[in-house]
Amino acid sequence: MGQDAFMEPFSSMVAVFQCKIYLLLLGACSGLKVTVPSHTIHGIRGQALYLPVHYGFHTPASDIQIIWLFERPHTMPKYLLGSVNKSVVPDLEYQHKFTMMPPNASLLINPLQFTDEGNYIVKVNIQGNGTLSASQKIQVTVDDPVKKPVVQTHPSSGAVEYVGNMTLTCQVEGGTRLIYQWLRNGRPVHTSSTYSFSPQNNTLHIAPVTKEDIGNYSCLVKNPVSEMESDIIMPIIYYGPYGLQVNSDKGLKVGEVFTVDLGEAILFDCSADSYPPNIYSWIQRADNITYVIKHGPHLEVASEEVAQKTTDYVCCAYNNITGRRDETRFTVIITSIGLEKLAQKGKSLSPLACITGISLFLIISMCLLFLWKKYQPHKVIKQKLEGRPETEYRKAQTFSGHEDALDDFGIYEFVAFPDASGVPRMPSRPVPASDGVSGQDLHSTIYEVIQHIPAQQQDHPE
Ligand SMILES: *[C@@H]1O[C@H](CO)[C@@H](O)[C@H](O)[C@H]1NC(C)=O
Ligand SMILES: *[C@@H]1O[C@H](CO)[C@@H](O)[C@H](O)[C@H]1NC(C)=O
Ligand SMILES: *[C@@H]1O[C@H](CO)[C@@H](O)[C@H](O)[C@H]1NC(C)=O
Ligand SMILES: *[C@@H]1O[C@H](CO)[C@@H](O)[C@H](O)[C@H]1NC(C)=O
Ligand SMILES: *[C@@H]1O[C@H](CO)[C@@H](O)[C@H](O)[C@H]1NC(C)=O
Ligand SMILES: *[C@@H]1O[C@H](CO)[C@@H](O)[C@H](O)[C@H]1NC(C)=O
Ligand SMILES: *[C@@H]1O[C@H](CO)[C@@H](O)[C@H](O)[C@H]1NC(C)=O
Ligand SMILES: *[C@@H]1O[C@H](CO)[C@@H](O)[C@H](O)[C@H]1NC(C)=O
Repeated sequence: MGQDAFMEPFSSMVAVFQCKIYLLLLGACSGLKVTVPSHTIHGIRGQALYLPVHYGFHTPASDIQIIWLFERPHTMPKYLLGSVNKSVVPDLEYQHKFTMMPPNASLLINPLQFTDEGNYIVKVNIQGNGTLSASQKIQVTVDDPVKKPVVQTHPSSGAVEYVGNMTLTCQVEGGTRLIYQWLRNGRPVHTSSTYSFSPQNNTLHIAPVTKEDIGNYSCLVKNPVSEMESDIIMPIIYYGPYGLQVNSDKGLKVGEVFTVDLGEAILFDCSADSYPPNIYSWIQRADNITYVIKHGPHLEVASEEVAQKTTDYVCCAYNNITGRRDETRFTVIITSIGLEKLAQKGKSLSPLACITGISLFLIISMCLLFLWKKYQPHKVIKQKLEGRPETEYRKAQTFSGHEDALDDFGIYEFVAFPDASGVPRMPSRPVPASDGVSGQDLHSTIYEVIQHIPAQQQDHPE
């Protein structure tokens, strides 16, 4: 506490010292500070406007005086009202218009008129140990709020691209100090080779119009107290046809050639970008003669009715406003149904099905081969070799025993027997032809295989 009591005169001395420096430098500061949040205030005509002011000071004061003055360019400043302590002394001319509640220095103007536009000066005087004085200036503007703008296009019926021009005019019924801005699809439009503005920017001139100028246009109007945007306008611009194309629901399209299966009806669709929509016509070419077969964007070709296998068509698109036309030529080839369908079915088999099929075939083949090998030769040999000398076929008995591969070793002989009852079966080759066999009836013959094993080879494994 003792320290505070000691510091107080010291700090006020510092304040006085600072103020003396400010006085020297600016001639304004004396421990009194007047501030305003904004040096420019935009008011709306007919409404109340409040001019806020704050002030503060460090010295003991006996009298607080506040004075408001109004000045307009090239005119004398006018006294509006003043106060000492809490008593207000208005200028009687304006006494109902301006209000102040001292010691609050803020001023209320009600109602605001266009004539109230100008600079408002507030001066605060503090009477204490000497007199402190400070002032501030606030600029006030008065405006009517913007009413909703309306855009009009000329010509309203639209313009043909590269030929016509278009003017968009923004009209506003009410509002002061209007600033116009044009927006296209929500973004500001700038001056370019085809866009130009009137001096006020309230008209936009497009010369010439192109397809790229199609969009959502609006006019944004601002003033210091408000802003309003017009409804969106889409200028009518005639263009096209562009990007003419023929497509089909069926058939294979390669370039300008459609391949269609015989018997299928196919629908062709002709399309091109244009405004207004094109008028389409279809032309068939046959034997150097062209004739229009249909109007409209769709053409159905029933392929069984087509006499030729290859037919040329032309789709023609015409824009009757721009007067431009475009056409595209295409060829329809009717293919026979059989090969195409088979090829498609072959293609449609899945690889898995193919693998399964091949595998099954291989397995069955191997089984059949095995079974044939196991039973068929054995049976035949067994049946046919009955009654033969034992020495001739003793090895053949073990023919089916494939456990030992060495058993299969040998020279195989193909033998034919004449099939006659009571005739003993004899190998044809070892028997000489003169040995009675030639004289016998050879009307049916049985064949068999005989294995010969060379003696040395037979003895070797044993
Ligand atoms: C203002 O108020 C102070 C103290 O409250 C007083 O001394 C002074 O006389 C007043 N001034 C007038 C003009 O009423
Ligand atoms: C002055 O009065 C206005 C309303 O009457 C109030 O909003 C404002 O805060 C006051 N200013 C001071 C410094 O008291
Ligand atoms: C008034 O100011 C004078 C000089 O500016 C100073 O000497 C004096 O102490 C001050 N009095 C008070 C009460 O502040
Ligand atoms: C469009 O504007 C251009 C340049 O401003 C002008 O030369 C032309 O005559 C205009 N065309 C029409 C149809 O108004
Ligand atoms: C223009 O506006 C319409 C509807 O108002 C909207 O459907 C369309 O997408 C807009 N176009 C663009 C380019 O923003
Ligand atoms: C018109 O608009 C352009 C840009 O769009 C701007 O630079 C110019 O200041 C505007 N003129 C007026 C009078 O508002
Ligand atoms: C088709 O007609 C043109 C002119 O019309 C002619 O020059 C051409 O020789 C004709 N071609 C055939 C194949 O007839
Ligand atoms: C263009 O074609 C449309 C539809 O076919 C028709 O309604 C319109 O009258 C035509 N316009 C002109 C200028 O020929």
